[in-house]
Amino acid sequence: MKIARFSRIGFILAAAGSAVGLGNIWKFPYIAGEYGGGAFVLVYLFTVLLIGFSIMIAEMLIGYMGRRDTVTSFELLAPTNKSLWKYGGFQGLAGLFIMIFYSVVIGWIFHYIVTSLSVLPATVKEAEATFNTMLHTDIVTQLFYHTLAFIWITYVLTKGIKGGIEKMNMILMPALMLILAGMFAYATTLDTFSQAFNFMFSPDWSKIDSNAFVVAVGHAFFTLSLGMGAIMTYAASLEKNSNIVKAAFWVVFLDTTIAIVAGLMLFTFLYQYGAGPAKGPGLVFISLPAAFYEMGIIGNIFAVLFFLALAFAGLTSSVSLVEPMVQYFIDRFSWSRLKASIMMGLFFYLIGIIALLSNIDTYSEYLTWGGKNFFDWVDYVTAAIMLPLGGFIMAVFVGFVIDKSKVESIMKPQLGFAFETWYFSLRYITPIAMFVVMLSLMGVL
Ligand code: PHE
Repeated sequence: MKIARFSRIGFILAAAGSAVGLGNIWKFPYIAGEYGGGAFVLVYLFTVLLIGFSIMIAEMLIGYMGRRDTVTSFELLAPTNKSLWKYGGFQGLAGLFIMIFYSVVIGWIFHYIVTSLSVLPATVKEAEATFNTMLHTDIVTQLFYHTLAFIWITYVLTKGIKGGIEKMNMILMPALMLILAGMFAYATTLDTFSQAFNFMFSPDWSKIDSNAFVVAVGHAFFTLSLGMGAIMTYAASLEKNSNIVKAAFWVVFLDTTIAIVAGLMLFTFLYQYGAGPAKGPGLVFISLPAAFYEMGIIGNIFAVLFFLALAFAGLTSSVSLVEPMVQYFIDRFSWSRLKASIMMGLFFYLIGIIALLSNIDTYSEYLTWGGKNFFDWVDYVTAAIMLPLGGFIMAVFVGFVIDKSKVESIMKPQLGFAFETWYFSLRYITPIAMFVVMLSLMGVL
């Protein structure tokens, strides 16, 4: 069988497409707002550099060395206890679970692209009512767009690494960057740009507590797509002799730059036309449309472009969330790509409907336990437990289990003198950090 491989730029764009997602444009600005801006942003940047970058290299390395689906890669690379280590590869399941709510959110974005074409809400109150009506009562609209997201994502997956994933990323990623660059350029001309800049970069350390720290670390993981086999699965299709460090650098660089650019732009708009840096998940669905309204006709154009960019970001991440398990069923059970893609698609689609219904007033009471509805539970379990666990396992696997000489033979030429620092961080800094994050997100600490 001829194995399809990414081109060099194709891999970087696909991995960056995975990393740049709703996490960058939807989540990062609102959590940065919640934790007071500057100090939080610095902690996040610091974690991305110290922990994110080194785990990114490790995850790429496992995929690159294993060259198979995540489970088989772990199995092949473990020198002993293979049947135990293979479970490390089931971190790919986390991606499928994330898709349960991710696809619903992409559905909202599709809906917002369409509505932004015609009317924008005139006030934050109105925007809030619109959003809440959709979220809590409108099954039909949400189901329609969730179905559309499912069809799109599954279709791309059936086309495979080259003709599906690479192709989509080669188009949507440049488009996304162009849109954001254009809107960002406009934002820099507004008076409030400097205010947004100060908010993002002058640290107010009084706002930072251990909780903010943990959220920053957790987000660094989520935003870089680490700990659930996405990057690993893509790296299995890297050409031989690829430079992992360079690729990892580009992915981290693009992901971080896009988060910062999106944050600066959104806060500028919100200061200029809205009520300042609004907080909470409703930021892009509530405060932002109201700010766009204030801009007049250009606001309509910006709103459509913005939600398009957000949809692009979400779609390129989605395929990477599902691909690990698609690959797993192809490799281990000899399923055809078509069958594997449709089965995995149906999995997140059908369970996604339950997540969608758990936000609907008449159903939520049956789908809520312990103060969280099903939608929030999926988000919580994946972010608080599965992701850091995946990171922990990978760090230990590369740091302690795979022969150091093997790791060194590939990584030393690429990392040079930084090799020992990287290796040390994998062995000691990352596992401990992951462990602490997991315990605190679970509420143990
Ligand atoms: N990194 C993506 C985002 O920021 C989410 C994601 C996580 C995608 C894990 C793939 C794997 O939205």
